[in-house]
Amino acid sequence: MKLQNIVALVTGGASGLGLATARRLIEGGAKVVIADLERSNGADAALSLGPNARFSIADVTDTDQMNAALDVAESLGELRAVVHCAGGGAAIRLVEKDGSPGSMEKFESVIRLNVIGSFNVLRLSAARMARNEVIDGERGACVLTASVAAFEGQIGQVPYATAKAGVVGLTLVSARDLASKNIRVNTIAPGIFDTPMLARLSEDIRTSLGRSVPNPARLGQPEEFAELATHMIQNGYLNGETIRLDGAIRMQPR
Ligand SMILES: NC(=O)c1ccc[n+]([C@@H]2O[C@H](COP(=O)([O-])OP(=O)(O)OC[C@H]3O[C@@H](n4cnc5c(N)ncnc54)[C@H](O)[C@@H]3O)[C@@H](O)[C@H]2O)c1
Repeated sequence: MKLQNIVALVTGGASGLGLATARRLIEGGAKVVIADLERSNGADAALSLGPNARFSIADVTDTDQMNAALDVAESLGELRAVVHCAGGGAAIRLVEKDGSPGSMEKFESVIRLNVIGSFNVLRLSAARMARNEVIDGERGACVLTASVAAFEGQIGQVPYATAKAGVVGLTLVSARDLASKNIRVNTIAPGIFDTPMLARLSEDIRTSLGRSVPNPARLGQPEEFAELATHMIQNGYLNGETIRLDGAIRMQPR
């Protein structure tokens, strides 16, 4: 799929990996709708990206808000691409230090954000794309965001690792499910990227995290994620795959 003149939705596009992807898509000639929370930086982000960017307030787990964002996208033309970046985690232990069982509320909220959010974004976007005219054999392409935690969850990451494994699980079956509609689905499993998500860590910890990556021994740059996301949209033969983007890191238990 060519990026020129397509309409793309980027969830979590106000920050980090999503913002870099929105920027890269616009550089490639796409029009982009950023779907992000009201409290996010989405309005400023869209302004900074210029006239081909819009911001729509949407929680990815909310059907009405997501449909409103998709309406904004379709007001610009046929929705051809979705890059779903909104996600995140919360640390719990199965048995906390004080002996109490891990929080059900936190577990459920992380599953809701990452798994239910991905399902919601995918189903609502694909329903729109399914109505598109077929161009070069395709109606649309979707990119989801997992994490290397899906494969090597660290202690404290039970909710996040479980949820991101769910996103990996969603990938192939969704590609198969949407094959008859000529819509592709791929997933990126990032390692450790230099985004506001990591900004709460001290500079020392960020530097040592970077050094723990085999090669290159540094944090990933959001632009490197954006490059793979746009490649996944452009390469019509890439489908049903999860690609680790991680400088060969394999996370240790802690
Ligand atoms: N940064 C990393 O090292 C890293 C590593 C692995 C995976 N990831 C994944 O990459 C994705 C993006 O992370 P990031 O580092 O860019 O984080 P970030 O915090 O910079 O950006 C996340 C964006 O998602 C938005 N968001 C959160 N909940 C939302 C919701 N319910 N609906 C809509 N928007 C919502 C936030 O407002 C924010 O703008 C996440 O899914 C994260 O789990 C990040």
